Amino acid sequence: MENSKPYVILSAAISIDGKIATRTGKSKLSSKKDLTRVHRLRSGVDAIMVGKNTVSVDNPSLTVKYVKGKNPVRIILDSKATISTNSKIVKTARTTPTMLIVSETAPTRRVSLLTKKGLEVIKCGKARIELRKLLSILSKRGIKKILVEGGGITNWHFLKEKLVNEIIVTVTPYMIGGKDAVSLVEGNGFDNISYSFKLKQVKRIGDEIVLRYVF
Ligand SMILES: NC(=O)c1ccc[n+]([C@@H]2O[C@H](COP(=O)([O-])OP(=O)(O)OC[C@H]3O[C@@H](n4cnc5c(N)ncnc54)[C@H](OP(=O)(O)O)[C@@H]3O)[C@@H](O)[C@H]2O)c1
Repeated sequence: MENSKPYVILSAAISIDGKIATRTGKSKLSSKKDLTRVHRLRSGVDAIMVGKNTVSVDNPSLTVKYVKGKNPVRIILDSKATISTNSKIVKTARTTPTMLIVSETAPTRRVSLLTKKGLEVIKCGKARIELRKLLSILSKRGIKKILVEGGGITNWHFLKEKLVNEIIVTVTPYMIGGKDAVSLVEGNGFDNISYSFKLKQVKRIGDEIVLRYVF
């Protein structure tokens, strides 16, 4: 069925050299104006998804700020249910709907602890999280549009499986460098230059450029 997968937007702020964080994990690249744009985008989607490293490094709220609008459901990919109970995500899970996606390897004790804290834990996959299956589950739950906000490993898995409909990246005026700094897309990468997107919009905000590509 055509509607069995939500529309996926991959969103990130990158340095001139394509990094999304420094080697020490600093990732606040966007200007206030760009952040406002991102939060407006958040308010128009059903869910925001990130990988567990982003939660542990950034400790984000993943809510809508700077603009008026509803909070999307927060979805965290964390196959072994390792997310810290001190994280903002866990601490606010009773007021902002939050799904924790785990695999069958997640310890039962951790799953029940996090469930008690207000997260909805969804098992999807044996050893690893199966993204295609997950998207089908989310679609059945009424989630039609997802904003994938990284990090680099999560971005790679979505792209590897060709699950991305749209990419919105802000090129910010910073230079980061370093092999240990996380890039927009991590993982093994593709062998050939053949997977491409169409450029739909270019917008300049001061020293930043917002690029919108669709598949
Ligand atoms: N500038 C920006 O816009 C921006 C945005 C977001 C993040 N960041 C930065 O990115 C960095 C973190 O990125 P990261 O690449 O290290 O990690 P990440 O993508 O945040 O998290 C990756 C982890 O998520 C879990 N995961 C489970 N199933 C997955 C699946 N199917 N696909 C992908 N991930 C899955 C994996 O852990 P398990 O194997 O244990 O499940 C994996 O190691 C931080 O420094 C953060 O500051 C920057």
